[in-house]
Amino acid sequence: MELHLAGGNTRRTMWRTHLWWNGLLLLSCVQSVKPKKYIVRTEGCKIEDPYPYDAEVWKNFKRIEYTECSTLQPLTRAEYNASTEFYQLHINQSAFQQYLQIDLDFAAHSSSSPSCCYMPVERVTEQEVDLGENCISFESGVQLRNTTLGFLVQCYANGKRIYTNGHATVPERGHVRRRLAEWAIERGEAVPSVLLVAMDTISRQQLMRAMPLTRQYLQNTGWFELAGYNKVEDNTLPNVLPLTTGYNRNSVNHMCNPHEEEGLERCPFIWKLYQDLGYVTAFGEDDTPINTFNYLIKGFRQPPVDYYLRPYLMAAEQWLDGSDQLEQDSQPCLGYRHAAEHVYDYALEFTRRYRNDSYFGFFWTNTHSHGNSISRTSAMDRYMRRFWQRMAEQGTMEHSVVFFLSDHGLLDGSTRRTPLGWLEERLPFLYIWLPPHLRQAHPEFVHALNENRQRLTSPFDVFVTLKHILRLASPNDLAHLLGDAADCPSCQSLLQPVPLARTCADAGIPEHWCTCRSYYTYSRHTSTDYLMAQLIVQHINALFEKYKDGKYAGLCKPLTLMNIMRASIARLNKADNPRISIHRLQIQVEPTQSIYEATLSHNNSSQNMVISGISRLDEHKPFCYGEQVDQFICKCR
Ligand SMILES: *[C@@H]1O[C@H](CO)[C@@H](O)[C@H](O)[C@H]1NC(C)=O
Ligand SMILES: *[C@@H]1O[C@H](CO)[C@@H](O)[C@H](O)[C@H]1NC(C)=O
Ligand SMILES: *[C@@H]1O[C@H](CO)[C@@H](O)[C@H](O)[C@H]1NC(C)=O
Ligand SMILES: *[C@@H]1O[C@H](CO)[C@@H](O)[C@H](O)[C@H]1NC(C)=O
Ligand SMILES: *[C@@H]1O[C@H](CO)[C@@H](O)[C@H](O)[C@H]1NC(C)=O
Ligand SMILES: *[C@@H]1O[C@H](CO)[C@@H](O)[C@H](O)[C@H]1NC(C)=O
Repeated sequence: MELHLAGGNTRRTMWRTHLWWNGLLLLSCVQSVKPKKYIVRTEGCKIEDPYPYDAEVWKNFKRIEYTECSTLQPLTRAEYNASTEFYQLHINQSAFQQYLQIDLDFAAHSSSSPSCCYMPVERVTEQEVDLGENCISFESGVQLRNTTLGFLVQCYANGKRIYTNGHATVPERGHVRRRLAEWAIERGEAVPSVLLVAMDTISRQQLMRAMPLTRQYLQNTGWFELAGYNKVEDNTLPNVLPLTTGYNRNSVNHMCNPHEEEGLERCPFIWKLYQDLGYVTAFGEDDTPINTFNYLIKGFRQPPVDYYLRPYLMAAEQWLDGSDQLEQDSQPCLGYRHAAEHVYDYALEFTRRYRNDSYFGFFWTNTHSHGNSISRTSAMDRYMRRFWQRMAEQGTMEHSVVFFLSDHGLLDGSTRRTPLGWLEERLPFLYIWLPPHLRQAHPEFVHALNENRQRLTSPFDVFVTLKHILRLASPNDLAHLLGDAADCPSCQSLLQPVPLARTCADAGIPEHWCTCRSYYTYSRHTSTDYLMAQLIVQHINALFEKYKDGKYAGLCKPLTLMNIMRASIARLNKADNPRISIHRLQIQVEPTQSIYEATLSHNNSSQNMVISGISRLDEHKPFCYGEQVDQFICKCR
């Protein structure tokens, strides 16, 4: 209940006001009198503000408690020693006592200290790591090598293994230090660092529901929430590419095809530009099989950044306990921490170590939010609030521009199939932090971000903003850097006000993903609806026949329409052509029983119908096209 009240504050206040002024009589009709609220209400775009506690969605929500991965304290820790400039691995003797207590019989025979060894994690390829020949014995305080950033540790007592854990480090690197020093002299002044922290699959509404404490913290500490942040494509990668390259998936496929070996190497990722201009760079992401730049594609031949967490996490996933929890609402553990916490801790360590330098850190987590549970991520609420408090305590917020965001909302499942789910899928949360000195030096940025809180924005804008920040840091002859996003020339820096006339097209958002129109749902389906539904089915059948150059053509029974589950029509905005109506149809097909939702436009003069996009909404979708077994392919359409 506390949850409900915290996030639904505005609405509650409204209720109170009604009661105060109009007496109890009005109570019964407050719901119908209630005016529509909007996230964005401009000439070019109107986005309704969906109520996060809508009964249809709220009934699926259950608050999940945070559970520790172990009742024991870790036996070891890796700590940077500023005087030697190396990490040291320490054994915690008092924690060892706990390990003995859980097994008294064992304690009776035990030595007074454990014997421990470590294995450095070496990256072989994007898919392979090497732990070396043997586990290297060490005493507490041993100096760790600077050539790799990941270590696995094991400890034994009485010949029995009692402990396995992993530590990631941010070792001092000569060439990085030289780069930072050269550019610091060149610039002569401190430049803002950039930190991006993303949690997969969290809409703005989902953040309100599942992470009220975190959200409250952000609201109270002066972050800017961009409520009209609209995704531009379906799932993670095609939304991350615009944000990190300014190109959409199609262009990337032509320019630097991620399916080819070294394809991604040719993409103009923003972190390369940052690195070229004197920044130290890092990237970390949990759940390595589905990593953004690896799932069904080739990944990177060379580490794409200075500090690349993937090899460590691959080793951790393979060797540490608890990585096989597959329950819907559990938070997967890797050793003594949740999988995502390895990434968050690394973000903290990286930003702490380079606190006084210019860095570009990009950290992405999947394990506590990816999938179609709306409840699971609530377990991390307190943790995430603490995470941002720790960032503040270590001084990160003083000199970094920070983006805290997601890629999209839920993509499938029963919550997604509600009308609210449609909107939430398209509106991931985005918060931006400006460090105090930047606020002082550029009040116009503060003004712009305040304006943009309620404007339509997209991942392309974040890309242009990242370039804008880089331009601030490099005042001399680098004007060309403040460029556009190639696939959205009208997209812009979020540190400038977004024009009121902006439409989805202006923001690089295709019709199917556009939330600027509100839809009206009706129950009596028209003959046009059936024609449109047939067109969708034909379209999916045709796509499947062409899939992998027709490799599976003729293999599966063609899909047929089972029923229209929901039909809606868009209320047109002023700028729209009145002869073109825009429709949204949710249909179910046989024999797969799968559920699709499509956006179509219908020309009322020519009767011409065009599909602008199709989404698959049932739970059975994930992982289908990665599956090479033929009978699965038939279910995957
Ligand atoms: C750091 O290393 C120095 C030199 O080896 C050592 O004297 C000091 O105790 C170390 N600091 C910590 C906190 O371990
Ligand atoms: C060592 O372990 C004890 C007991 O588990 C714990 O209270 C303490 O915080 C640990 N020390 C460090 C430096 O992690
Ligand atoms: C590791 O440390 C040694 C000794 O300080 C240094 O010479 C070497 O350059 C460092 N390695 C890297 C990759 O920076
Ligand atoms: C950064 O600078 C501050 C202030 O000079 C200093 O206290 C701190 O130790 C430095 N941190 C690092 C990681 O160099
Ligand atoms: C199509 O145009 C006709 C005639 O103007 C109108 O009666 C009808 O409602 C329009 N249909 C749609 C779907 O806009
Ligand atoms: C709609 O159809 C009419 C008649 O065929 C055509 O002139 C018009 O260009 C079409 N409009 C659009 C936006 O396709």
